[in-house]
Amino acid sequence: MHVRHDIRLAVNGRPDSVSGVAPHTTLLNWLRAGGLTSVKEGCAEGDCGACTVMVGTPTPGGFDWRASCSCILVVPQADGRAVITAEGLRSADGAHHPAQTLMAEGGGTQCGYCTPGFVMALANLARRPERDDETILDAISGNLCRCTGYRPILDAARALPHLPAPSTEQGLAADLAASSREALDYEAGGGRFVAPDDLEGALGARAAHPKAWILAGGTDLGLRITKGHEVPKTIIWLGRIASLRAIAETPAGLSIGAGASYEDALPFLDRLAPEFAALVRRIGGAQIRSVGTMGGNLGNASPIGDSMPALIALSAEVELAGPRGRRRRVPAADFITGYRKTVLADDELIAAIHIPRPHPEAIFHAYKVARRIDQDISAVCAAFRLRVEKGRVVEAVSGWGGVAARPVRAHAWEAAVMGKPWSPATVEAAVTALAGDVSPISDFRGSKDYRGAVCAGLVRRLWHDTARDVSVARLEGL
Ligand SMILES: Cc1cc2nc3c(=O)[nH]c(=O)nc-3n(C[C@H](O)[C@H](O)[C@H](O)COP(=O)(O)OP(=O)(O)OC[C@H]3O[C@@H](n4cnc5c(N)ncnc54)[C@H](O)[C@@H]3O)c2cc1C
Ligand code: FES
Ligand code: FES
Repeated sequence: MHVRHDIRLAVNGRPDSVSGVAPHTTLLNWLRAGGLTSVKEGCAEGDCGACTVMVGTPTPGGFDWRASCSCILVVPQADGRAVITAEGLRSADGAHHPAQTLMAEGGGTQCGYCTPGFVMALANLARRPERDDETILDAISGNLCRCTGYRPILDAARALPHLPAPSTEQGLAADLAASSREALDYEAGGGRFVAPDDLEGALGARAAHPKAWILAGGTDLGLRITKGHEVPKTIIWLGRIASLRAIAETPAGLSIGAGASYEDALPFLDRLAPEFAALVRRIGGAQIRSVGTMGGNLGNASPIGDSMPALIALSAEVELAGPRGRRRRVPAADFITGYRKTVLADDELIAAIHIPRPHPEAIFHAYKVARRIDQDISAVCAAFRLRVEKGRVVEAVSGWGGVAARPVRAHAWEAAVMGKPWSPATVEAAVTALAGDVSPISDFRGSKDYRGAVCAGLVRRLWHDTARDVSVARLEGL
């Protein structure tokens, strides 16, 4: 197996090789140190989009471009890829990119600090032929402007022409293609970044470096560098392992590789359970979903991770891989055992998430309650799978986040509705029963009492969303 020791990438169309840069250096800091100061640091935690760059992964026909936050990516994550900053947007004849012109001439910029980030989000959007207000809002939901107001920015986005990739990109992509698949073992400044190209290699690296950070998208771990000021000695990156990015759709259900990004998983989730997809669209902004993974959401073992309630309600299983081909599957509800604790053994990695296809008559609803629609962490997140036959509940599974030290399956709620008529009386009995499943605490996202009231409210909302004779206005749609 060929292992490379330097980082190869292209910045604004120019191939580059990096060595001597500590592997935990953020892409933002490295770009700025190289003079590309259009890339701004606002929050250094993926929340404001000021640091947005386009990151392209070679494909057979060119690049797969994604808007990404350079503040929480480390430089070796750009290995084998192309990066574009606002400095690289001008065309060969020196003309500004339409995203720049439209923002400047339409009054989309005042202090200008957020502007390069918006311009990069828009330039990435311009590559896509289809455009409506939903895709526009999705593309800029990870960008924050504190002074201009969003109307002129939206006007610029709406006026943006479709700009297919220039033909020169094909050659660059072909040059980087081999590098984007090669295993990497990079050392500098006392740190090491290992990127095996298969799962066995990753498990071997984990055994050899038991204290290493296991890095997928880095949208959680990156913050330990930028906000926690931690310096990892060794990082094992899973981003080079094709099998971990695979997504398989079968009549039985959906298998999502632990390393597949949310953006890649979304079209599949749309087909399996549209409300799960809608929930995932509320995880961070586009720049977070372009790299963040469901494997990372589970590995993080947070009580407020948004995918777990839906995975519990859909009776998903988490597949774990150990050395010598060892595999085991754990119900999603049993994977997280306590606050930031999982059943994952020291020699294992999360390989995939398997979601059975719901019964055609089953209803699936997912609710995220946060202070705003975009870019916010849940105070409470709940998901329900429910099937009613001849007026009686024959299937009921529910998962909850933000209500205990770990995401929970609501067994008492399930027992209160199973076999019962689906009626207001059953719903009220289920509200009472749910108190046995949840034990919310007070924190800055909500008090214990508020969360308790939200839990009761969501059970009643499920009734309103499923009762045939009630017309429901969804707040998100207003
Ligand atoms: C601005 C912002 C907004 C966010 N919004 C939300 C939100 O709305 N809802 C939400 O739930 N989360 C949110 N997050 C958190 C984060 O994006 C998600 O948890 C994401 O799924 C993490 O995936 P990742 O690939 O980036 O994980 P990483 O940061 O790479 O890893 C996270 C953890 O999982 C472990 N891990 C990763 N892959 C594996 C594997 N295959 N096997 C074993 N362990 C593994 C890592 O070691 C680490 O402990 C947000 C983050 C940011 C920065
Ligand atoms: S600096 Fe705010 S998202 Fe990166
Ligand atoms: S123009 Fe000042 S933050 Fe957007």
